[in-house]
Amino acid sequence: MADKENIEQTLSIIKPDAVGKNVIGKIIDKFESKGLKIKAMKMVQLSEKEVEEFYSVHKEKPFFKDLVEYITSGPVVAMVLEGKDAVIENRVIMGATNPKDAAPGTIRREFAESIEANAVHGSDSHENAQKEIAFFFGRREIY
Ligand code: CMP
Repeated sequence: MADKENIEQTLSIIKPDAVGKNVIGKIIDKFESKGLKIKAMKMVQLSEKEVEEFYSVHKEKPFFKDLVEYITSGPVVAMVLEGKDAVIENRVIMGATNPKDAAPGTIRREFAESIEANAVHGSDSHENAQKEIAFFFGRREIY
């Protein structure tokens, strides 16, 4: 008998470069056409403090200061995506962190500017997805 399907949720962020390029709809289409469903969505301008908290795992990295400056440079769109193996599916749809390494048809290959301005963020594990979803959304905002 086949294993039970792993229906799960993950967090996606459309970053300021992609919002500025007016490709929110095209990015959402990539998720929906692969079967991921949007269960929550909001546009938000993050503060420096919020970005420092969200990306705290990267705080010792040389690119951290630039990352905070970039993510606060304009509004982002945060979404909860749900579907079969949503964490890994989202990462496949996004493509590699560096758009130069991203496969054809992926969001980063088509829309990202650089390794920093890379169009989207996606949770890297089920555990982090739970934390990142709770960072942006209350229980009553997820449908
Ligand atoms: P993201 O997947 O959101 O996780 C960390 C972010 O830091 C990454 O996407 C990029 O936007 C940014 N970043 C900037 N420089 C680098 C780098 N050299 N390696 C990885 N991420 C980087």
